[in-house]
Amino acid sequence: MNNQQPLIRVTNVRKSFITNGNRVDVLQGVDLDIYEGEMVAIVGASGVGKSTLLHVLGTLERPDHGEIFYRGESVFTYNEPKLASFRNQTIGFVFQFHHLLPEFNALENTMMPALIKGVNAKEACEQAEAILSRVGLGNRLRHLVGELSGGEQQRVAVARSLVLRPSVLLADEPTGNLDARTGESIHDLLISLNRDDGITAAVVTHNMELAEKLSRRVTLVDGKALSID
Ligand SMILES: Nc1ncnc2c1ncn2[C@@H]1O[C@H](COP(=O)(O)OP(=O)(O)OP(=O)(O)O)[C@@H](O)[C@H]1O
Ligand SMILES: [Mg+2]
Repeated sequence: MNNQQPLIRVTNVRKSFITNGNRVDVLQGVDLDIYEGEMVAIVGASGVGKSTLLHVLGTLERPDHGEIFYRGESVFTYNEPKLASFRNQTIGFVFQFHHLLPEFNALENTMMPALIKGVNAKEACEQAEAILSRVGLGNRLRHLVGELSGGEQQRVAVARSLVLRPSVLLADEPTGNLDARTGESIHDLLISLNRDDGITAAVVTHNMELAEKLSRRVTLVDGKALSID
């Protein structure tokens, strides 16, 4: 099939949670390869483990078992500072619940990853402004999060994930709470990032219309990932 090395390789990833003494085995041996330039839709029933898988892919959560390779490197072997720096430089993450900081405005929220990386404030501000304009929010830079609509907040979250020009975008239901038209504009944005900037993406979605537009679909069932093409 594909002779290239995958950009991301997931091998036999397992993850369980223990709550009040009850163990829930969420990921039960997930194998998944994602190649450079692909946009993979991750679908599946509520509670099946899509967000958990995305968090592990994004190195935000450690699997109990198995490995995640980026360009052949097993990233969970990195120590914490190296892992944090890898994450900051490689991955843009859009959370299911956007997790913007309410006391900051759109520009400041978008600048945050760049400031964390150590980019100086002026440059971070310019980069954030450029990406906010790209997502259609050039005229909302100084609105606080609470002064933005749901779709605008989601677009700020997308802008924040992109400010450092990551090679990988992981988006968890980026259009989950939006009306159809606003959702579609986010779909178009994600697709243009892939087409124009070559970004590789995994997008968790319940929206089959979006899933159909992406290069490949993977469904999570019983703790495993199955290709559904
Ligand atoms: N930190 C946690 N502690 C305990 N259980 C958790 C934790 N995170 C997730 N779970 C459990 O793991 C299962 C999978 O959760 P996850 O959020 O990955 O599902 P999901 O597929 O993203 O669902 P949805 O479509 O509703 O967003 C759920 O049953 C959830 O209760
Ligand atoms: Mg989820």
